[in-house]
Amino acid sequence: TPLHFVTLLGSLRKASFNGIVARTLPDLTPEGITISPLGCISAFPHYNQDVQDAGFPEPVLAMAEQIRAADGVIVVTPEYNYSVPGVLKNALDWLSRVTPQPFAGKPLAIQTASPGAIGGARAQYHLRQSLVFLNAYVLNRPEVMIGQATGKFDTDRLELTDQKTRDFLVTQITALAELARTVKKPPQG
Ligand code: FNR
Repeated sequence: TPLHFVTLLGSLRKASFNGIVARTLPDLTPEGITISPLGCISAFPHYNQDVQDAGFPEPVLAMAEQIRAADGVIVVTPEYNYSVPGVLKNALDWLSRVTPQPFAGKPLAIQTASPGAIGGARAQYHLRQSLVFLNAYVLNRPEVMIGQATGKFDTDRLELTDQKTRDFLVTQITALAELARTVKKPPQG
């Protein structure tokens, strides 16, 4: 059965390394998998329960619906100050208040890219912690942490040029597909 994944991007920067990764994924998809981007999280206001009580912002409800309809989510994000960027955390906070909560039981993979040596690893573990509470099925391995990004991207052409990284992304997408198919399987017996 074909699978459809959506990407959630944690950077708002035009020439974002992570944005380039997210936009590259649809070109790398193996047979039977499609990937499309979710809307930009800059459309979400700062989380405020008073705003929520007056009615969820339209972009929040629309994204929650797109996530619910997808077979899996790929979060592609920078690391800020050893953690998850505020804009991404804000988006997760909004989405977590929608019922049914869209990440519950959802297969999910994490990808980070950074000019630094360890490629955003620390943000990944903070993100995983929040996703425990949201009850997502977060793919354990392989972990995609793209370090030394400056040498792996053409930031003028906004392209991911490093072939090893492109191949590794395919490996992770394939693993996410396997997880999604396992999770989707009806109970046996
Ligand atoms: C950073 N950067 C960064 N990098 C990293 O590897 N670990 C970190 O903790 C941080 N902290 C951090 C905080 C803030 C506020 C900024 C703006 C940046 C550098 C970061 O990886 C770099 O700016 C990336 O280019 C951001 O990702 P995008 O926007 O290119 O996808």
